[in-house]
Amino acid sequence: MTAIKPHPISPRLAVPASIERPHYVDRPAPERYTGSHIQTAETIELMRESSRIAAGAMYEAARAIAPGVTTDELDAVAHAYMLDHGAYPSALGYRGFPKSICTSVNEVICHGIPDARPLEDGDLVKIDVTAYKNGVHGDNCGTFACGELAEDSRLLMERTKTALERAIKAVKPGRQTNVIGRVIESYAKRFGYGVVREYTGHGVHSAFHSGLVILHYDNNTYTDVMEPGMTFTIEPMLTLGNPSSHVWDDDWTVVTNDGSRCAQWEHTLVVTTDGAEVLTLPPA
Ligand code: MF3
Ligand code: CO
Ligand code: CO
Repeated sequence: MTAIKPHPISPRLAVPASIERPHYVDRPAPERYTGSHIQTAETIELMRESSRIAAGAMYEAARAIAPGVTTDELDAVAHAYMLDHGAYPSALGYRGFPKSICTSVNEVICHGIPDARPLEDGDLVKIDVTAYKNGVHGDNCGTFACGELAEDSRLLMERTKTALERAIKAVKPGRQTNVIGRVIESYAKRFGYGVVREYTGHGVHSAFHSGLVILHYDNNTYTDVMEPGMTFTIEPMLTLGNPSSHVWDDDWTVVTNDGSRCAQWEHTLVVTTDGAEVLTLPPA
């Protein structure tokens, strides 16, 4: 298996002026969020729509995966879907990110920039889509096969999804957020998988990354107590080998140091009175 290398990046896609953009677009960084981690029923209802659009765009891009298709083409599919649904692609112009989604292949952990590399049979393709509409974001990621996957990659993909599902089941009001990482790490350990530590889940609503941190490994640094109305992502990244990583010179692409493959699944959810409701569900 050959290592992923940078390929040319096409010019930035346009967004019509009729689509509302987040405040941070083309600024160096977003403003710091100082509001509540708990959202109103009205905000949550708006997040259902943004999240459904993000999920629809992700699965639409995933359907386009095939050998020979470039990640830039996946970006174009998701970009068009979000615009068609009145949403702004939250990644575009976020801290200088040049594309509308992240596409992270094989040993790329996350934040891969869609480019001219044609997908190959056996590639493990992560698609991370965030959509912004009515002032709120919905954020999700999935891992998909290009052609036929090797057995170890397929299992990694499936078990990373299971790790996310188990973590979501552990979400309950009154519990601390650190239960999430405990569940994910203990499940990953059964299979000898690495758990990426440098990138975390996060509060999401009017802010893309609110400052609320959700760890995917077992650690008690954060003791925030979950409450109904709290909205955040869980987005475990599990690796076949060592999870330590570095960032390419493009300042975005995160890859494993040992070249081992990574899978990721992400949902945006809201804490309810007795558990969690996943917001990033695709349209029926
Ligand atoms: N969607 C990613 C996350 O899950 C963030 C991507 S930042 C970007 O938090 F600029 F690369 F889009
Ligand atoms: Co996220
Ligand atoms: Co994401």
